[in-house]
Amino acid sequence: MITLFVNASQVVTCAGPARGRRGTEMNDAAVRTDVAVAVASGSIAGVGSIADLRSRFAGAEEFDCEGGVLTPGFVDSHTHGVFGKLRYDEQELRAAGLDYMEIARRGGGIHSSVRDLRQRSEDELFALAERRLRRLASFGTTTVEVKSGYGLTLEDELKTLRVIARLAKALPLRIVPTFLGAHEIPLEHRTSSAARRDYIDLLVREMIPAVARDRLAVFADVFCETGVYTVDETREILTAARGVGLLMKLHADELTSAGGAELAASLGATSADHLAAVSDEGIEALSHANTVATLLPGTMLFLGKPKQAPARRFIEAGVPVALATDFNPGTSPTANVSLILTLGVSQLKMSAAEVMVAATVNGAAALALAEKVGQIAPGFSADLALFDVSDFRELPYWYGDNRCVATFVGGKPCYARDLAVT
Ligand code: NIG
Ligand code: FE
Repeated sequence: MITLFVNASQVVTCAGPARGRRGTEMNDAAVRTDVAVAVASGSIAGVGSIADLRSRFAGAEEFDCEGGVLTPGFVDSHTHGVFGKLRYDEQELRAAGLDYMEIARRGGGIHSSVRDLRQRSEDELFALAERRLRRLASFGTTTVEVKSGYGLTLEDELKTLRVIARLAKALPLRIVPTFLGAHEIPLEHRTSSAARRDYIDLLVREMIPAVARDRLAVFADVFCETGVYTVDETREILTAARGVGLLMKLHADELTSAGGAELAASLGATSADHLAAVSDEGIEALSHANTVATLLPGTMLFLGKPKQAPARRFIEAGVPVALATDFNPGTSPTANVSLILTLGVSQLKMSAAEVMVAATVNGAAALALAEKVGQIAPGFSADLALFDVSDFRELPYWYGDNRCVATFVGGKPCYARDLAVT
């Protein structure tokens, strides 16, 4: 079946090389006006004038974009989408002066989500995550990475990853699973250095091999941070993951500058995420690597931190920058990628074109999917989002708003809002 998407006021194609965009490349979202998009068998078959496409694809069905803006579906490359209870209590504690890491030291934070998730069944977690991911889809996201990391036992991590696998089957979204068994040192392993060592052994000898054997994850990730995993521990865990064919990600230099970015570069990680506290050496190291810097400005905003990742310095150094929500119950409970675009412009000082590229092509690169999704160009999967705005710069502009009308994954409807509100 062939469908022509017609009457878009703009098509943000992001067309170009099928890899993370760097430097000034990021400032070109390849926006086209007066073009239609042909989709055949789930892929983009052409982008051109309506007249051309109508004659090339005679008899094609037409989808009327009604003057909206058509973009590649957002690629939200960093979420912790499977969790149980909400943690608004911690938001108030922070407002009262308690720091995120202090809350964790007192057994809250990630530990609190871990206690909760361990008690829930796979079915219950599936039901909760399904609703939450549908919400993500309603903001224009068509590909979402989902991490485990609130189980922290072999059984509870596998339970979480099985939930993610079920979500991938049940939902029209494209879902990329990540094993984050190294999200924290579980409290029962914080009693002595031997107990801590036991957990790392468990990760390396049992959990990572089991995840790879059951093909439950594409990526492995580690929270490399002062007070959580050291650089040496992170290297050991990710080297084991790489050894069994998993790709690598790091939560790097989120709150303190601990050498995470340098490690990501030296390991050849696909992405280094957060980076609000990255050092000069970290930026330099990433500029020589093939690693995407995934920035999560919603997290710093929600934690009430004044600091944001130095996006401009990354871009100037030629490091591909992606933007994502970090959707999770503790530090960033937002599903709204457009809001992240707003923060990209207003806080990270990126241009509207740069934030669009960061949330599409570069998000895809952060998931090793840049050859398949992230741009509206012939051969790419027809993963599309339609917004009821007439200029793409309105997406970061109407902050907090949701202008998404419909999304498609592989040409099939993923999300549809019945009534466009303007
Ligand atoms: O990306 N920093 C570590 N992990 C998450 C937070 C998880 C949580 O607090 O539950 C993050 O911010
Ligand atoms: Fe995270």
